[in-house]
Amino acid sequence: MDKRVLEANRVVWNRVADRFYGRNPLPEYGPLAPDEEELGLLGEIEGKKVLDLGCGSGHSLKYLEEQGAAELWGIDLSTAQIRAAQQVLSESQVPVRLFESAMEEDPGLPESYFDMIYSIYALGWTTDLDQTIAHAYRTLKPGGTFVFSWEHPMYSRMLKEEGLLKLVKSYHEEGAYEHKSWHEPAVMYQRKISTYINALGGAGFRIERMVEEARLSGMDLEKHTNSWYTAERAALLPTTIIFKCRKDEE
Ligand SMILES: C[S@@+](CC[C@H](N)C(=O)[O-])C[C@H]1O[C@@H](n2cnc3c(N)ncnc32)[C@H](O)[C@@H]1O
Repeated sequence: MDKRVLEANRVVWNRVADRFYGRNPLPEYGPLAPDEEELGLLGEIEGKKVLDLGCGSGHSLKYLEEQGAAELWGIDLSTAQIRAAQQVLSESQVPVRLFESAMEEDPGLPESYFDMIYSIYALGWTTDLDQTIAHAYRTLKPGGTFVFSWEHPMYSRMLKEEGLLKLVKSYHEEGAYEHKSWHEPAVMYQRKISTYINALGGAGFRIERMVEEARLSGMDLEKHTNSWYTAERAALLPTTIIFKCRKDEE
């Protein structure tokens, strides 16, 4: 875990929280990607205890309450995001527990407790992937599911220039880098697909499904395109990768 990076990212996320208020929450998995209503990865939600890693403004948790979740738990690094989530979930009819914490730290979560743990466009912010996945495994019930979406590792490595996709960074290169297009000193991590697969397998998870698809309907394009997520690039490369994993019963 890198405390210096976490502190820098906490400051940035406090500053940009408003821009991301309810931006791409469930049922969406990411810009120009298929959504939960199409994929059905989460399964039956009725009566389930759920934990959101990087819950942001809490809109995904709100969606899960609408689907019948019994308990809503969330972790987020940013004070501003946790405050937004508290407000968004203030009228919830089920117990809500929100922690201002890095997902790679354990804020005191119960063991083998959650039926479902998920993360929408947040897991890739962790400074320690192995530790974050180990916490998810420990706190999930046997038989429980872990679903997360993140930017596809190839998407930021390839840019479209003069009609061609250009590889601007080696696929082999991994680790921390400053995310320039944000105009804020955010530190992100480049990781390979095999790094995610090996981290999940190493923690004990069984991967049930991976999704690398794009959705480019008129509505998707209208809602999601911006200077980073463009129709041109998304037509050639998925913006998003989604993993569905299971902690098997012993
Ligand atoms: C794109 S937003 C997530 C949106 C949210 N999952 C949703 O469904 O609406 C990414 C979130 O990750 C949080 N974050 C960044 N680094 C984190 C870390 N190391 N631990 C926990 N949360 C982190 C940010 O504060 C931000 O709220």
